[in-house]
Amino acid sequence: MALPGSALSRRSVLLGAGATALAPILPRIGAAAVTERTQREVKLAAAPGRVRLVPPPHPETAVWGYNGAVPGPEIRVRQGERLRVLVENGLDEGTTVHWHGVRLPNAMDGVPHLTQKPIGPGETFTYAFDVPDAGTYWYHPHQRSFEQVGRGLYGALIVEEREPVRVDRDVTWLLGDWRLLEDASISGDFGNRHDMSHAGRIGNTVTINGQILERFPVRAGERIRLRLINAATARIFGLEFQGHRPWVIALDGQPVAPHEPQGGRVVLGPAMRADVVLDMAGEPGDRFTVADTFYEGLEYRLVDLAYIDAPPLREHLLDAAIALPPNPLPEPDVSAAERHEIVFGGGMMGMMSSAMVGGERMDMRAMMRRGLAWTVNGVSATGHVHDPAVTLTRGRSYVFDLRNETAWWHPIHLHGHAFRVIARNGAPTRYREWQDTVLCAPRERVEIAFVADNPGDWMLHCHVLVHQAGGMMSTIRVA
Ligand code: C2O
Ligand code: CU
Repeated sequence: MALPGSALSRRSVLLGAGATALAPILPRIGAAAVTERTQREVKLAAAPGRVRLVPPPHPETAVWGYNGAVPGPEIRVRQGERLRVLVENGLDEGTTVHWHGVRLPNAMDGVPHLTQKPIGPGETFTYAFDVPDAGTYWYHPHQRSFEQVGRGLYGALIVEEREPVRVDRDVTWLLGDWRLLEDASISGDFGNRHDMSHAGRIGNTVTINGQILERFPVRAGERIRLRLINAATARIFGLEFQGHRPWVIALDGQPVAPHEPQGGRVVLGPAMRADVVLDMAGEPGDRFTVADTFYEGLEYRLVDLAYIDAPPLREHLLDAAIALPPNPLPEPDVSAAERHEIVFGGGMMGMMSSAMVGGERMDMRAMMRRGLAWTVNGVSATGHVHDPAVTLTRGRSYVFDLRNETAWWHPIHLHGHAFRVIARNGAPTRYREWQDTVLCAPRERVEIAFVADNPGDWMLHCHVLVHQAGGMMSTIRVA
């Protein structure tokens, strides 16, 4: 069947086909309403609530969410627009909102004590900034994030290209990971020492957009842009799309030369995103599994792609180009760049015996008693404010040599910038991908390059959030 007409609305494809179960309907803040207005206004109220994470007969789960939902509303803006977000804090503790991956002014970065006072209970704060890059981003608190994110405070921020690639549907999967008890309540053991000093808080229940999804309905012949966001506090995903060939077109929001992921598996550490183009090559009635195979021996079925019983959307799969237009990122001059070594240490089965804590040397046992186990350049951070690990000159190019000297995986995130991943263990990377969070394997050495063009004090930390709380954070200053 040929494509009926030209203007296929993204959401009507499946609706028109008489499917019963649909993709999860995200509370979306009107992409359709984006017209000439260049400012988008959003309200986010962080508060306790109850949502249905697991199907009956399990009860609902008490969570902390934005606007009463998990995930919070999907915020959509167009590239170059100004976003204004009024945040109300209905929690019993302070919070902030960090716009992960967005290159914004320092004062809008949402880091407690470093860039703003935490928003106290009952207080409000307005974030307002221009959004320079198109792509897939997300938002989450930066205050006690290991618990606030783990209880459900997160949402997607989608920045639409002025000229997007042609797809039939644009779908977001926010992946969440929960540690639930028998009664579907969230286990309250946040920040325990074992999680802190090992792989982080890996849960027992994975959700897509806040639900356990049995099937994700698709139609033969359609092309989907799937925006994958890892909002888990510790779990790494390795997604395999049985029967399909995903093409990666963006990583951490930034366009990348379209390619099939290594081994066909899309690997996402905490906070990382991948935009994937999927052509639905199956037949009506087919069913294919999307499996998460990252942890050996702990593979599981995430969801099934379920082909609806409708004639294919088109006779031949689309062969329109899938390369995204570039974002306005400054290109680092690697040959002239100043190099800095950033060493990540600590954790169980490591070789670290002591570290600097608040200006004093402390041994590992004393650190553990204080809830610390990790270091950046020998320092274990106890809060968000510290002397910068390095001070960079605005406008210059830098190469950071990130050395993971631990036995664990760490997704290392730099605020306020995107960087190119240029080498791993000394070997140049194939795509020199732009990222804001780079997953470092145990003992791996990763080189990143960027122009320090955004003034301010910026966090550099592990996005296994209990590693961050356990000392694996630092700041860099761009002056
Ligand atoms: Cu997604 Cu410093 O955070
Ligand atoms: Cu880590």
